[in-house]
Amino acid sequence: MSVACLRVRAVCRAVNYGRYFSRTSAVNMSAKVGDSLPSVDLFENDPGTKVNTAEAFASGKHIIFGVPGAFTPGCSKTHLPGYIEDFSKLEAKGVKSANCVSVNDPFVMQAWGENQGAAGKVRMLADTCGAFTSQLGLDLPAVQHVLGNVRCKRFAMVVNDGKIEKLNVKPDGTGLTCSLSTSLCDEL
Ligand code: BEZ
Repeated sequence: MSVACLRVRAVCRAVNYGRYFSRTSAVNMSAKVGDSLPSVDLFENDPGTKVNTAEAFASGKHIIFGVPGAFTPGCSKTHLPGYIEDFSKLEAKGVKSANCVSVNDPFVMQAWGENQGAAGKVRMLADTCGAFTSQLGLDLPAVQHVLGNVRCKRFAMVVNDGKIEKLNVKPDGTGLTCSLSTSLCDEL
């Protein structure tokens, strides 16, 4: 095949990807404050332990934070440890549970939680197929070449009686700051 032909094919592919992403973002509007939390089954520790988001967070105040991936440097050194360290402060402010969500399988989330000492402080919830992430409109396609598939933007939310009360999303999806426990703790 000629170089010109290969170039044309590459351009067509890029245009198609562009269409795919713009169609995706048009359908999956980003969640906003005041919305009800989508009802999706997440998995805690193993595929037999379903946690339905609408049921689990239907009453009281809960924190859900999303990360691009288990064991990645930013998530392991800063994001998750912050919530583990600050859990008693969050509890003192009326938070019933802190929950870490990632598009990973439940076994990986379990191993990451054990590695970080999350038990009793942060629940490790696997958004196995990314359905929760996608219904919130928080997909992060930009990291798929590094992490293997579309992941979740870095975000933190406060859910109160099943509704999103606060939502902090990193616009670039990966940077740390507004979704850290320290930021959210100050806003409670
Ligand atoms: C991180 O260190 O958190 C990270 C690394 C690669 C992709 C996304 C996040």
